[in-house]
Amino acid sequence: MFKIMTKNTKGYVLPTVLTPLFVIVESVLEIFIPTLMATIVNSLQSTPLPDDIMNIVVSNGLLMVGAGVVALLFGALAGRTSAIASTGFARNLRASLFEKIQQFSFANVDKFSTASLVTRCTTDVNNAQTAFMQLIRVVFRAPTMLIMATVMAFRIHAELALIFFISIPLLGILMSIVVIKVHPMFMKMLKRYDTMNATVQEDLVAIRVVKAYVREDYEIERYRKATEEVRVSQLAAEKLMVLVNPIANTVMYGTTVALLLIGGREIIYLGLKAGTLTALMTYSTQILMSVMMICFISVSLVLSRASLQRISEVLNEVPDISDGESDVEVENGSIDFENVDFSYSNNKDNLTLEGINLHIKSGQMVGIIGGTGDGKSSLVQLIPRFYDVLNGSVKVAGRDVREYNLKNLREGVSMVLQKNVLFSGTIKENMKWGDENAADEEIQQACKVAQAHDFVMSFPDGYDTDLGQGGVNVSGGQKQRLCIARALLKKPKIMILDDSTSAVDTATDAAIRAALRSEVGHMTTLIIAQRISSVQDCDFIVVMNDGKINDIGTHEELLERNTIYQEIYNSQQKGVAEE
Ligand SMILES: Nc1ncnc2c1ncn2[C@@H]1O[C@H](COP(=O)(O)OP(=O)(O)OP(=O)(O)O)[C@@H](O)[C@H]1O
Ligand SMILES: [Mg+2]
Repeated sequence: MFKIMTKNTKGYVLPTVLTPLFVIVESVLEIFIPTLMATIVNSLQSTPLPDDIMNIVVSNGLLMVGAGVVALLFGALAGRTSAIASTGFARNLRASLFEKIQQFSFANVDKFSTASLVTRCTTDVNNAQTAFMQLIRVVFRAPTMLIMATVMAFRIHAELALIFFISIPLLGILMSIVVIKVHPMFMKMLKRYDTMNATVQEDLVAIRVVKAYVREDYEIERYRKATEEVRVSQLAAEKLMVLVNPIANTVMYGTTVALLLIGGREIIYLGLKAGTLTALMTYSTQILMSVMMICFISVSLVLSRASLQRISEVLNEVPDISDGESDVEVENGSIDFENVDFSYSNNKDNLTLEGINLHIKSGQMVGIIGGTGDGKSSLVQLIPRFYDVLNGSVKVAGRDVREYNLKNLREGVSMVLQKNVLFSGTIKENMKWGDENAADEEIQQACKVAQAHDFVMSFPDGYDTDLGQGGVNVSGGQKQRLCIARALLKKPKIMILDDSTSAVDTATDAAIRAALRSEVGHMTTLIIAQRISSVQDCDFIVVMNDGKINDIGTHEELLERNTIYQEIYNSQQKGVAEE
């Protein structure tokens, strides 16, 4: 945990080191002020007044003012440096988290869930920032105060100071009881915060679905429940926390009363000076305040430990897909699956794909068809190495995909994901994800192949149309076509379309396939589709069933011999006939 703290102070080491130094100077000066005051009061009380009384008052008074001003100055400096250090720390931490997450494979992201990653990058970082600030400020202030004030109290009156041997442990024990009781309550509260945040996030991400299903009331109720749970646990914790002040005050006033009683007696009978008593009382406040502070920091440090732990889980996660050694580029579009087993959980008893053997020559157009959940997406995701195989190997251009570095591999393999997204920005900007140097003509050419050019031109702003966040301004079918165009701009050796024309009408779908064949040079194309019509003119078609390849053949061959294919075909013919 301290490793996270030290690692992320980069660029802010000076303010991080200076803050505790400033704080210590501030505390030490504050400790001397009561002693100076005691000297003044005691001299004024002496009979007869010493000859140089004016001198004593003025010099000690000036010292007091000086100490006060310097303490204030160092306090202000500490405030500044701690703010610089802690905000810088938070920035570094956010940056390292984000950088780490960018290296994550799909499997890594699956493991944490998106909502939790967002909370870890935001709320948890805020908690860590607060903890960091306390660590460099209060952690040094409280013990310094405690030790120094106790020493000073013993120096000016050892017997009276013995009273602190009772009040310090008393306050310490009482506060610890509160802290121990309140800690699990705070932990519970934080957990419920997580749930509450996740509710908001899930709802907002899917706000359109919520509205479509008129689930607003249900969502409001769900959120209300989450906030109610936060309220209940917060209230329980607060109910305990309100005890803190009465306890502290009782111990503090008790100590003051005891000091007054015993000290008063000593003033009357033993000639103790009033100034000494006043100073002792001030020390008593300083001592007990620092005990309280220590208790409070321990609560908040323990609390932020949970956050730091969640952060370090992300930082310590090993991206399970790492770059290969070779820096060759993908030379051609041949693909070979050799005895491939695959499992999302890396568990051989829970295989998603089993015993896959598939050989595709460069430039072929291959269809993949099968029922939902049969492993079509899982199969093609192995080609650009979004996941790694469990057994066997996937080869692109005759080379195991694990040998390529990821940049080269993914440059060569373009994939239009089943759940694809566009980003905020203009159409042209989105296209440039495929190739940042693409000229306008190239963009238009890609859009023509994807049958997107015409509708883009029908927008008033054409290619400069702003898409809004997540590409909300275009229809489902338009979005799919833009995603295909974007993938084409990478000029890949292999193009994978995972159900990418499901929202496009049959005629446009056919036009896209025709253009892919005629307009785009040598490129291997994999088409996953639900419709037979989308794959029937492919060089061959792979039929997937329950994670295995059921059959491979042309449309005619499969129609003749494969029952699954016949079933799909017949059901779709029936649909056509009914229409
Ligand atoms: N990220 C994931 N983590 C764990 N299991 C997954 C994940 N994605 C898919 N699966 C599981 O793997 C199996 C195959 O899913 P896959 O997405 O490959 O099917 P599919 O053939 O593409 O289906 P569809 O036609 O509905 O897109 C399913 O049982 C699914 O539950
Ligand atoms: Mg799929």
